[in-house]
Amino acid sequence: MSTPKRYTITAALPYTNGPIHIGHLAGVYVPADIYVRYLRKRGKDVVFVCGSDEHGVPITIKAKKEGVTPQDVVDKYDGIIRKSFQDFGIAFDNYSRTSSEIHHQTASDFFQKLYDEDKFIEEVTQQLYDEEAQQFLADRFVVGTCPKCGFEESYGDQCEKCGTSHNATDLINPKSAITGATPILKETRHWFLPLDQYEPFLKEWILKEHKKDWKSNVYGQCKSWIDDGLRARAVTRDLDWGIPVPVEGGDGKVLYVWFDAPIGYISATKQWAEREGKDWEPYWKDEDTKLVHFIGKDNIVFHCIIFPVMLKAHGDYVLPDNVPANEFLNLEGNKLSTSKNWAVWLHEYLEDFPRKEDVLRYVLTANAPETKDNDFTWKDFQQRNNSELVAIFGNFINRVVVLTNKYYDGKVPSPSALTEIDEQTLTELKAYPTVIASSIEKYRFREAQAELMNVARLGNKYLADEEPWKTFKTDKERTETVMYVALQIASALATLSEPFLPFTSEKLKKMLNLGETNYSWEDISTEKVLLEKNHQIGKAELLFAKVEDQEIQKQLDKLEATKKANATEDAEVIPQKELIEFDDFTKLDLRVGTIIEAEKMPKTKKLLVLKVDTGIDKRTIVSGIAEHFKPEDIIGKKVSVVANLKPIKLRGTLSEGMILMTENADGKLVFVNPDENGVNSGTVIS
Ligand code: MF3
Ligand code: ZN
Repeated sequence: MSTPKRYTITAALPYTNGPIHIGHLAGVYVPADIYVRYLRKRGKDVVFVCGSDEHGVPITIKAKKEGVTPQDVVDKYDGIIRKSFQDFGIAFDNYSRTSSEIHHQTASDFFQKLYDEDKFIEEVTQQLYDEEAQQFLADRFVVGTCPKCGFEESYGDQCEKCGTSHNATDLINPKSAITGATPILKETRHWFLPLDQYEPFLKEWILKEHKKDWKSNVYGQCKSWIDDGLRARAVTRDLDWGIPVPVEGGDGKVLYVWFDAPIGYISATKQWAEREGKDWEPYWKDEDTKLVHFIGKDNIVFHCIIFPVMLKAHGDYVLPDNVPANEFLNLEGNKLSTSKNWAVWLHEYLEDFPRKEDVLRYVLTANAPETKDNDFTWKDFQQRNNSELVAIFGNFINRVVVLTNKYYDGKVPSPSALTEIDEQTLTELKAYPTVIASSIEKYRFREAQAELMNVARLGNKYLADEEPWKTFKTDKERTETVMYVALQIASALATLSEPFLPFTSEKLKKMLNLGETNYSWEDISTEKVLLEKNHQIGKAELLFAKVEDQEIQKQLDKLEATKKANATEDAEVIPQKELIEFDDFTKLDLRVGTIIEAEKMPKTKKLLVLKVDTGIDKRTIVSGIAEHFKPEDIIGKKVSVVANLKPIKLRGTLSEGMILMTENADGKLVFVNPDENGVNSGTVIS
């Protein structure tokens, strides 16, 4: 696209069934925010919209689980999400909700127009139905094997493994997620979007026009789906939570969540325009508008195939120019999961690390899953903070500001003739705005941020080479020149860091007393002076603070606790055995014993030969615990013994009884250990 007149930037509407975590941030919101802040800095006309995605089955499921209404669920999480985005500084022009009046109206009208223009196929078809729950099964209410990749836990509308979107009736071995029942087929009327009819359009638009400028992961997925052949997809559902189908025969039915949610981008823009007294239409209808969708990879099919087909069918709207979808971020080696609580939650991070918004932004961008899945670890977080933000960026600024205050009472000194090194350094500095911009415009945010850090490195190297702290005593003039050059770099950093580290940039501008800078991003590449001589700067303040080991340990402990809780929850519950009579129980002679000798049974892996003091006697018991305990570690341990088990010969040794064992929360074998305080061997357990 030649120079756009305006930009409409969208970030995926988060499902309102849980808070925001670092996976969402790294995949969608941080890159979108960097892009938008950059565009604004370049003086572009931008609208940046998002909002809560409040319909869909996950919300109904969550409500059922918690015994509340879906409205309660969305109200709760909309509040948490909205606040955490705000505190984190994601600079939306509007964060809306799909439960809002304006959205219901917009989505309803959109559907109505396609209906009136015969863009849907209306058909009574057989759909999956759960007889026990008396409910049609769609989307996340049904799981089964994905017809494309064979993943066994695909949802009715989309496979989380391969990203393909399909019809619920395509699933192999479908099972109800509500009751576990195998669904039957039952007739119902629905409206279908005939994706197959749009194949020529998609081939032209994606496979030809966007082969070069879309990311290869995005392009590749689209190509594979288009090559496989597309089919009509139902855009209505037999559910009671969502936007009512506005046409005849639509009673008791709602729009498919993936039909209404992307229209949320449009309604959020309308709401913003109304509030600001602007016209929303050019942002969606003018050909010179560049529409960009920031999403995670599981949303590709909806933003590259289904929504564009909807827009095309509608006819009034522009199509996305790009859909820079990211891959996934993992946490300490495991997949992030809202339901398993395996996450770093944004609202909790903001509480645990006050005033460290930029640190999280920085680390997530440095590790952004732009081309492949990536891993977030707390050690890496600490390391990047301490040895990059603190040691490189923070250190440079601190030296410049401290020395300027110390030598010149905070007044920018006047330069004398520049040496070759000064000239070279300034020339290098001038190249960065273009380099960083070019990476951002290609949606390569980690590369862009790495270049930003190179500006700070340039400054550090310059100071280390020129050593103003040494020349200060011998050569006042040279020192003034060096400090002048260093101050120009510091000023450039305040501007260039704006998209990436907005809080830091603001702090730095305050420190340098820059106010709203009187120079632009582009000006950094020119001869323009970025910090005038005699300009008074402020006092040094730390831009970044060290993250200490114990702060990291606290986070690791939290995750460890989650792991334990999940293990307990996941532990297979073995069904209870048949009932026994009391007499059956009293036949058992259970006693406390003490292990007095232990050694490995020769030529076996699993067996230990124990000598156990049962109070009655000292007897031999062979126990299959050699892989879990070293003989020397268990001598002296109190254990529970079945004393009257018929003796049995094991590998030639007579075993006279059995030791009771169980598993701890980590799945480790442990003794059923009677309280050792004052319990003697021989005490009967009853
Ligand atoms: N709620 C969806 C998700 O979290 C994203 C919706 S994006 C929109 O995966 F386009 F539908 F808005
Ligand atoms: Zn699949």
